[in-house]
Amino acid sequence: MKPVSFYLVTDTHYFENELGAEGKAFEKKMATEQYFVRESSAIVKSTFARIGEDKETDIVIIPGDLTKNGEIESHKSLIKELYKLKESGKRIFVITAGHDYGEISYAYKNDERIEVEGTDFNALCDMYRDFGYGDAIAIDEPTHSYVAEITKGVRMLAICCDSLNQPKGAMDERHMTWAKEQIDKAKKDNCSMFAICHYPIIPSVPVFDLVGDAKIKEWQKVASFLADNGVELILTGHMHIQSINEFYSEKGNRLIDICTACLAGSPAKYRKITIDNNSVMKIQTIDVEDFGWDMNGLTAQEYCHKKFHDAIIARVDGALSGGKGIVKHLKSFARKRFYKTTVGAVERLLLIKRDEALKNKKLPELVGEIGVGIFLGDGAHTEGTPVYNFISGILRRFSFILKKVEPKLEKDGIKVDLRSMLLNTIGNNKGFSDNNAEFTLK
Ligand SMILES: [Fe+2]
Ligand SMILES: [Fe+2]
Repeated sequence: MKPVSFYLVTDTHYFENELGAEGKAFEKKMATEQYFVRESSAIVKSTFARIGEDKETDIVIIPGDLTKNGEIESHKSLIKELYKLKESGKRIFVITAGHDYGEISYAYKNDERIEVEGTDFNALCDMYRDFGYGDAIAIDEPTHSYVAEITKGVRMLAICCDSLNQPKGAMDERHMTWAKEQIDKAKKDNCSMFAICHYPIIPSVPVFDLVGDAKIKEWQKVASFLADNGVELILTGHMHIQSINEFYSEKGNRLIDICTACLAGSPAKYRKITIDNNSVMKIQTIDVEDFGWDMNGLTAQEYCHKKFHDAIIARVDGALSGGKGIVKHLKSFARKRFYKTTVGAVERLLLIKRDEALKNKKLPELVGEIGVGIFLGDGAHTEGTPVYNFISGILRRFSFILKKVEPKLEKDGIKVDLRSMLLNTIGNNKGFSDNNAEFTLK
């Protein structure tokens, strides 16, 4: 791989606050979200200002979900910020994704949700012509995928899997044929090539393999296609998680997928990636810092993680609310227990080996901490840690249920081991960090 250095920022979910971001309907919607609509513009502006100050790196890549939900005014405001960043000397390459067009766009005013003007998919290439599309040496018109030579001898295959012309989150045969032609052309022209895609190609954590749109459809097929054609690196977003994964095809070729967090939310991170003359790729993760917001004395990171922590608990609360008749009573009982019960009480009830470190921790706290931790990457709950032992103990107690569920989750004859999937999701056992890592590329 030839040398190149760039910033990687994704899922900016920019929202123009003038449209309206207040009232009861807004607060209700945001209570369970991982990304922060009202703060998004301030986070984007402060991050772009910091990136603009770095004179070492002049390329910025943004793989999709640029706006909250495709509001035309959000696009216009974000584009103004992109022009400011460009004026600081950066070349910017974006792709668009599902949150950038098509869906009904909403704002929030006077305690209500109101519909606002959205964006037509076909208008996006022209709107972002100065941020990738105008520099493209090839564009796949149906999908808006494109190829750009981002620096001399290094081409970027920008794969757009959210278009009107193929199933969302998928790469169909026609699209792959077009990509193969571009990869072959890059080789012929003696250029290195890496790819970007909004959707992770490799499931970011093992349990995401069971979640429909957590990765590209038929991910093993797409990963093998890229790896076997010599594309060793792909940069992704969408799941708002910090993760780095390796995949080896049956022929033994490697694909590295660097999935980066949502910028305007928790984990609130972005990356700087440098590939040197010896093909050594250094991945550095950078925290979103103070973005000029009143955060009640918390740091930007503390503020973002606390909001997500509370959103996770609110989601559990929502799942344990509502229903009718006996279901309503059972949910109400479970909801009360959820808030009152400590880890120690669960350990006693299920006869799990007790651990002093967790015994007084309430379940909502534990659930929130585990959730935030998964998305921060570098899962800390590896074998032997208190949380690992607790979750492992519960899974052992309920292994008879797992054994019934696992066959139903099998796909293409591949067996599912839920216990190992869950434990490898809360603890990183890959041998390298999800945040700061180094790889030698081909
Ligand atoms: Fe997103
Ligand atoms: Fe997305």
